[in-house]
Amino acid sequence: MHSIKIKTKQNEYEVSIGRGYKEGISDILMKDYPKSKFAIITDENVAGLYINEFIKALNEKKRTFDVITIAPGEKSKSISQFEKIVRLLADKNYNRADVVVALGGGVVGDLAGFVASAFLRGVGLVQVPTTLLAQIDSSVGGKTAVNIPEGKNLVGAFYHPSAVYIDMDFLKTLPEADFADGMAELIKYALIKDEQMFRLLELSERIDADSEVLQELVIKCLEIKRDVVMADELDKGERMKLNFGHTIGHGLERMCAQSGIPMTHGQGVARGMAAITQASERMGQTQAGTAQRIISVLNKQRLSSSISEFDKTQILKGILVDKKNIADKINLILIDRPGNSFIHTVDASSAKEYIV
Ligand code: GLY
Repeated sequence: MHSIKIKTKQNEYEVSIGRGYKEGISDILMKDYPKSKFAIITDENVAGLYINEFIKALNEKKRTFDVITIAPGEKSKSISQFEKIVRLLADKNYNRADVVVALGGGVVGDLAGFVASAFLRGVGLVQVPTTLLAQIDSSVGGKTAVNIPEGKNLVGAFYHPSAVYIDMDFLKTLPEADFADGMAELIKYALIKDEQMFRLLELSERIDADSEVLQELVIKCLEIKRDVVMADELDKGERMKLNFGHTIGHGLERMCAQSGIPMTHGQGVARGMAAITQASERMGQTQAGTAQRIISVLNKQRLSSSISEFDKTQILKGILVDKKNIADKINLILIDRPGNSFIHTVDASSAKEYIV
């Protein structure tokens, strides 16, 4: 088992990465928290595959726990779902020594994390991410949130887990499209911080849940995330580099959501990384040929890389309404070559130059 330690202002925690140990996670939990009750928050898909293992082990040791199963998808990351869960915890007399366990992908992790941060002003939180995206990104670093009609992730808190358990074998049951979504973020880590990792991706064939190289790549992503989070926990500088591809990606996601076009986060980020690099290359800010290298790596991992079929004015509208824009400035993340990123702040009025 590989372990990565993350030190934050709030706490210090370990991210454990391995294969084939998920059946033992409930035993680890019971050992680490000998007196706590567990509120396991999961979704219907994950529960169908994995919850029985947890229930059986906890029942065998006569431990007290609740399984809270939500509908899969972004709609569950809501204030009303949050309220239902905290009221259930209150009703069942959960206290500060008890632990919320997030068993699932990004939606479960963000919602459960926010519940843990707010209930009694903070109870224990353990993340057990089951998607590639959650394993390399959302389960680590303490960002928790729910959505409101005015925007995604607008209500939340920085609240770190006390442990993260990553078993690569969870990915064996992940639908192919969700796996590709996670690959977009994985490629992003290489592009912003690790040239060698990008070279490895250029040399690799299509990667899937069984690929030997996957665990090594996941560990590299988590090491980058650790360094970035420890340098800038509250997302005011260095951490913003994790948003490479996200400005155009989010604009595209917003536009598609309004028009009823399916567009996942990873697909948006993939297209966003290619598009912003084509623009920065055109402006002489990026080494020539970089965008084509990115496109080749994305396409090999089943990710589309073009925004040409979408209305650019609408994408721009989606970018400009982002509540993260401050005083009409947009922080674009660019790379000058694979492995080296920088923040380029532009006036909102100049943002369109990076999309056309
Ligand atoms: N997902 C980006 C971050 O954790 O800052």
